[in-house]
Amino acid sequence: MIKLKTIVTSALPYVNNVPHLGTVVCIISADVYARYLRLKNENVVFVCGTDEHGTTAEVKAIEEGLTPKQLVDKYFKIHKELYRWFNCEFDCFGRTSSKDNHEITIDIFEKLDKNGFIAENVVEQFYCEKCKKFLADRFVEGTCQKCGYEDARGDQCEKCGALLNLNELKNPKCRICGSKPVIKETNHLFIDLPKIEPELKKWVKNSNKNWSDNAVQLTDAWFKEGLKQRCITRDLEWGIKVPKKGFEKKVFYSWFDAPIGYIGITKECKKDWHKLWHSKDTRLVQFMGKDNIPFHTILFPSFLIGARDDYILVNDLSVNEYLNYETGKFSKSRGEGIFCDDAVETGIKADVYRYYILINRPEKADSAFTWEDFQQKINNELVANLGNLVNRTIVFINRFYDRKVPKGKPELNPEKEYADIEKLLDKIQLKDALKSIMAVSKLGNQYFQEKEPWKTKDGNALFVLANLVKDLAILIEPFLPDTSRLIFRQLNIKPLKWDDLGKSSIKAGHKINKPELLFNKLEDKQVKEFKERFKGKQESKEFLLDLKAAKILEVKDHPDADKLYVLQIDLGREKRQIVAGIRKDYKKEELIGKNIVVVTNLEPAKLRGELSDGMLLAGGDKDRNVLVEAPKSNPGEQVIPGKIKINSKKISFDDFLKVKLVVKNKKVLADNSVLKTDEEEISCDVKDGSRVG
Ligand code: MF3
Ligand code: ZN
Repeated sequence: MIKLKTIVTSALPYVNNVPHLGTVVCIISADVYARYLRLKNENVVFVCGTDEHGTTAEVKAIEEGLTPKQLVDKYFKIHKELYRWFNCEFDCFGRTSSKDNHEITIDIFEKLDKNGFIAENVVEQFYCEKCKKFLADRFVEGTCQKCGYEDARGDQCEKCGALLNLNELKNPKCRICGSKPVIKETNHLFIDLPKIEPELKKWVKNSNKNWSDNAVQLTDAWFKEGLKQRCITRDLEWGIKVPKKGFEKKVFYSWFDAPIGYIGITKECKKDWHKLWHSKDTRLVQFMGKDNIPFHTILFPSFLIGARDDYILVNDLSVNEYLNYETGKFSKSRGEGIFCDDAVETGIKADVYRYYILINRPEKADSAFTWEDFQQKINNELVANLGNLVNRTIVFINRFYDRKVPKGKPELNPEKEYADIEKLLDKIQLKDALKSIMAVSKLGNQYFQEKEPWKTKDGNALFVLANLVKDLAILIEPFLPDTSRLIFRQLNIKPLKWDDLGKSSIKAGHKINKPELLFNKLEDKQVKEFKERFKGKQESKEFLLDLKAAKILEVKDHPDADKLYVLQIDLGREKRQIVAGIRKDYKKEELIGKNIVVVTNLEPAKLRGELSDGMLLAGGDKDRNVLVEAPKSNPGEQVIPGKIKINSKKISFDDFLKVKLVVKNKKVLADNSVLKTDEEEISCDVKDGSRVG
């Protein structure tokens, strides 16, 4: 008989950032399921890797001053190491930029094209005249027309999940330079979804699928709205080049080659990849976050159906909602929240994070990581329930029976519980399965209280408990693999399999090891410290203002306002006009040639009819304004408070007012750090405590 194989995939994370705890929800979930199948001796290939193409990588590369290739190499390594730390046991961990994925992507594209599923259309696209570039996806930001979210990206709104067309993004802005892009025409290739729709629908309807509710609903909604052709090419340098005449300058949309990456990555590591992805005996189980649904239920299946190459399609699909951080939200691409490298730094075990993530797994609604809740679950559940049961069982066998398991007969028989846990795991209801496992542990603790072996030295009870602890070590393995190993080590037996559940594998006379603590309590002091440590970081991570040194070139009176000057300034790479209310404080001649400091990322505004594209900084005494100066710095040089990332996006005047700039010892401070350039600390000759604005 041919044995069924299961491919388990976890959505391939973008490599433009250090992953945060929300990112690993999906990967750890897939890992639990893959481990569970291995524990049952099933044939499983767990595939994951990094999603390396697309605008996110290209935007981040520009920000970090790296080439896209250097950027993804850097983050691939970071991701791989962090997932290892979280005990994720992949069979294949690869990259969408690999040679194998290039080949398979091109092969699938050519088959789609040959079969008539690729259309060519002229489209209008955002084009930034300043950057001389078509702006793909995340190079544009604006307001989502569907939900009003203000930080939507060119291709998708992060808030409502809608995929956006050009005209559905209001107030578009170029993410590189902040200017408003124009719309220009260009040729692109499209996947002809309407043509594939009948076959796709038939597949969705007929196959016996185990999809989570959110996936079923969203897919239905897409069908109700009617499928449209979707663009699969982009104007980028970084990506898989489109092998078609007239499209030499374009690459594939990363959502084309990323899901194909599951196949490419399997090819990177398995000789029998082709058979795996084509055999009727393979089951495909995919894990992902909710914004990924349509790509896995509509687009990826359409690529494969249209290629007519007998690829297998997804069977089970497990979708998680989002994990937030404290009261805020952490966003993958904006870098807000607790990051995996922070998690490592806390010294708290990986298994403890896994436990928390899984017991709070956002299955039907979003959930949040909060330090208080984390502490409560560690102390009340891991330490007081599971840790306590294992520890006292081992301790009393050590103490009363010289480490040898006493004679006994089974008594607890939690077969029904084990069967229920198995059912939950088969249905990929991981959170409930974990809760039920903890309930078995609680059962053990109740039994312990009843039998009082610390008083009675009840040998039968300790025999029963040793075998229950053994069962817990099996049950918990997919969730907390290190903990499982540690329990088996104390029991002094080799790790057992799912089949060994309920058996009295630990025989009378078997010698166990000394006790070791499984978990440490998380103290109030630590919680306070962590909260402080990780909160500050996010807020100061980005400095809202993009301040630059500038030289005043020209000064004129404002024609319609007697308090204002109109200045022309040099910002190194560009010249700008700004309006400033310092006419009573400075004569024109005094100003010309001065090096000042300017807020360069304010929304341009008209002041009494004159354009002001920026604002100079001045410190205010009661009755005069004093310029903030940077005499030694070159025009265009960045002015920053210490080592910090600068926000390059435009901000409103209200945003500007949120930043407190004050003078102390004649120096200008932001968040208690002195503003400086490479040349100097920035000063303003006013008295201490004066506000700068
Ligand atoms: N990189 C995407 C995300 O993080 C997921 C890609 S999944 C794949 O949202 F199917 F395209 F691989
Ligand atoms: Zn631009």
